[in-house]
Amino acid sequence: MKSFLAIVLSLAVLQVAVAKDLRNVKEPKIPAACTSLSGSGKDATSAIQKALNSCGKGKAVRLASGTFLSGPLTIPSGVGLWVDSGATLKASTNPKDFDGGKNTCGTLDNNGKGCKAFITIKGATGSGIYGKGTIDGQGGQTMSGKSQSWWQLAREAQTKKNKQNAPRLIQIEKCSDITLYLITLKNSPNFHVVSKSTNGFTAWGVTINTPGDARNTDGIDPMGSQNITIANCNIATGDDNVAIKAGNAPTKHVSILNNKFGVGHGMSIGSEVNEGVSDVTVTSLTLEGTTNGLRIKSDKSRGGLVTGVTYTDVCIHNVKNPIVLDTEYSSSGGNKIPTFKGITFNNVKVLTAGTFTFDGISDSNPVEATLNNVHIKSGSKWITSHAKISGKYAQDASGNSC
Ligand SMILES: *[C@@H]1O[C@H](CO)[C@@H](O)[C@H](O)[C@H]1NC(C)=O
Repeated sequence: MKSFLAIVLSLAVLQVAVAKDLRNVKEPKIPAACTSLSGSGKDATSAIQKALNSCGKGKAVRLASGTFLSGPLTIPSGVGLWVDSGATLKASTNPKDFDGGKNTCGTLDNNGKGCKAFITIKGATGSGIYGKGTIDGQGGQTMSGKSQSWWQLAREAQTKKNKQNAPRLIQIEKCSDITLYLITLKNSPNFHVVSKSTNGFTAWGVTINTPGDARNTDGIDPMGSQNITIANCNIATGDDNVAIKAGNAPTKHVSILNNKFGVGHGMSIGSEVNEGVSDVTVTSLTLEGTTNGLRIKSDKSRGGLVTGVTYTDVCIHNVKNPIVLDTEYSSSGGNKIPTFKGITFNNVKVLTAGTFTFDGISDSNPVEATLNNVHIKSGSKWITSHAKISGKYAQDASGNSC
């Protein structure tokens, strides 16, 4: 009886301690079609937008087959865009189509905010993008009227130390209950998916497949958002596979469940965390060939509190920096001091040797992490500075694949 009570009590404690999306998230369903369109390869912007605008709430515009070329689209509240298997929705390569009004889209400047996204969902409730078809941002194609691709423009910005004006693929902003389901996203000119200031966002069974050298093409970035689930996704891209940010508002109650990451910069939190990131669960994640694995990064210009982050059942293979908690991601100064504490690693297996970094700001503000059942490959480098680490790791990982 006593031990039974102890189990019940510890379960109750566990329940409170589990940080996650507070919604009860189930596998989404594709809504019924309000209309079906087939693509001819020609510009379909106004046909798709008109269909979206006149679609009833709770229904979806179905792109049934063929190739649709389009400029920016907006999905209204309650409406779905269903790209069915065999259909491809391609973004226009003309920067003028995406221009935000200052005639800078497709150029470099110090701002990088001159383009509209390809698909915008703003101030909406219950909208979504569904289906086994593909949305192709054409980031590697030469921009029309220019001599380089969006990705080459991004490389040039890196060399010139300024910013490229390139469209994001999907921008979700000030919304609630938005769904991405089964869709394949590729070749975004910039970030693939941003969920900003949004409560309730689910990405389920989404594939992102973009080359590893396509600069600034983050996979899915929740920013200043709450109640987020990213589940059963395959993400390979040229920047962070997932990056949880909190520059504009706190981000909390995030569940990252049962995902596979290929090339990319890893499972990241940061670098903007000044409004705080908390209550994040990353469970059943495989990282294969990313540059970083589990990473929290910030600096004094955009730091804040990152806490209540739990990584459970993670397998890492062929990754240079399998775990990085870095409060000095850049040398930028300021008074937004990063504090990383309550970071827990459970059942983490790293099959290839790499560098592990736990780097806090100071002895009075160390990074605080707990290790349970962490197995790394012998020959790895373990670097700690201003770090308080409970638990142990063993250099005994074996096996050739996750
Ligand atoms: C998160 O989801 C829970 C459960 O549905 C809800 O009570 C809470 O208000 C949501 N949070 C926000 C910020 O919407």
